[in-house]
This record gives sequence, structure tokens and C-alpha cells, in this order.
Amino acid sequence: MIKFVIYTSKASIALSNIDLNDLITIARDNNKKNQITGMLLYLDGFFLQYLEGPENNIDILYKKLSQDNRHTSLEVLESGSIPSRRYAEWQMLFKKISSKEVPQFLKNSNIDVQHQGEIKLNLTQVKEILGQLSL
Ligand SMILES: Cc1cc2nc3c(=O)[nH]c(=O)nc-3n(C[C@H](O)[C@H](O)[C@H](O)COP(=O)(O)O)c2cc1C
Repeated sequence: MIKFVIYTSKASIALSNIDLNDLITIARDNNKKNQITGMLLYLDGFFLQYLEGPENNIDILYKKLSQDNRHTSLEVLESGSIPSRRYAEWQMLFKKISSKEVPQFLKNSNIDVQHQGEIKLNLTQVKEILGQLSL
């Protein structure tokens, strides 16, 4: 079985494209070694990540993530086991999207992104976004 985790977090500082590029390059190298696949979204200062892989490797990575001071307020929205990977081809698909673009990913649910640019996505919305981006 493959373990998966979906979590959101808040970037501690505004990350430049160079910072994000460094982060994703290291993440992809590590993930390849650790048989981890998934998707990382950077949404105006917020992260949304879907991780999947062998249980032990996911647990070790999540521990590292929770100690990484580039982000805070990690919140696991869902975790569990699945018989096979959803993103087998992606060592870590990365997308940067603006909160203004979020509504276009949500066909079945409404979202209020007006207040202070702060985005509060529920699990249904998160899954809808992940589903659209993986196409
Ligand atoms: C939002 C975010 C997502 C990350 N995603 C991954 C990832 O998918 N895989 C990974 O190995 N590291 C990821 N990292 C980096 C880890 O926290 C850690 O810095 C990295 O694994 C290096 O660990 P090491 O010093 O043990 O090699 C991420 C960091 C942040 C802030």
C-alpha cells in the first residue's frame, strides 16, 4: 500500500522564484531516491502539497517538513493508504498560482478569496484543484 498526505501550510517569508526553484530541485532529487511522488502548489504565500509513497519514507519526509522553517502552520487535511499511486510520473509537480486564479479551478464549489487574500480551502476544494492540475 502507498501512504498519501494532503496538507496546507503558510510560507514564513515571501519566497522568490529562485527560492522556490531551489526548494523544488532538492525536493525532486530526494523524492526520486525515496520513491515519493506528488504535487506542490504555491498559492500567494500558501502551500498545498500532496505526497504519496512508502509509509516510512512519507513519515520521515513529513517530520522534515514540519521542521522546515520556510513554512509554518502545517495542517494535514487528509492522509491514508491507497493501493496505487495517483501521480506516478511526478517526482513533484510544481505549480504557482495566484489566489485570483483559484475560482477557475473550482467548478463545483464556491470560494471566498476576497478577504485579505487569505485562502481557506476545504478538502473538497483542495481535491478539485489537485484533480484539475493533474490533467
Ligand atoms: C513547502 C515545502 C515542500 C517541500 N517538499 C519537499 C518534498 O516533496 N521532498 C523533499 O525531500 N523535501 C521537500 N521540502 C524540503 C524539506 O523540508 C527539506 O528541506 C529537504 O528534504 C532537505 O532535507 P535534508 O536536509 O535532510 O536533505 C519541502 C519544503 C517545503 C517548505
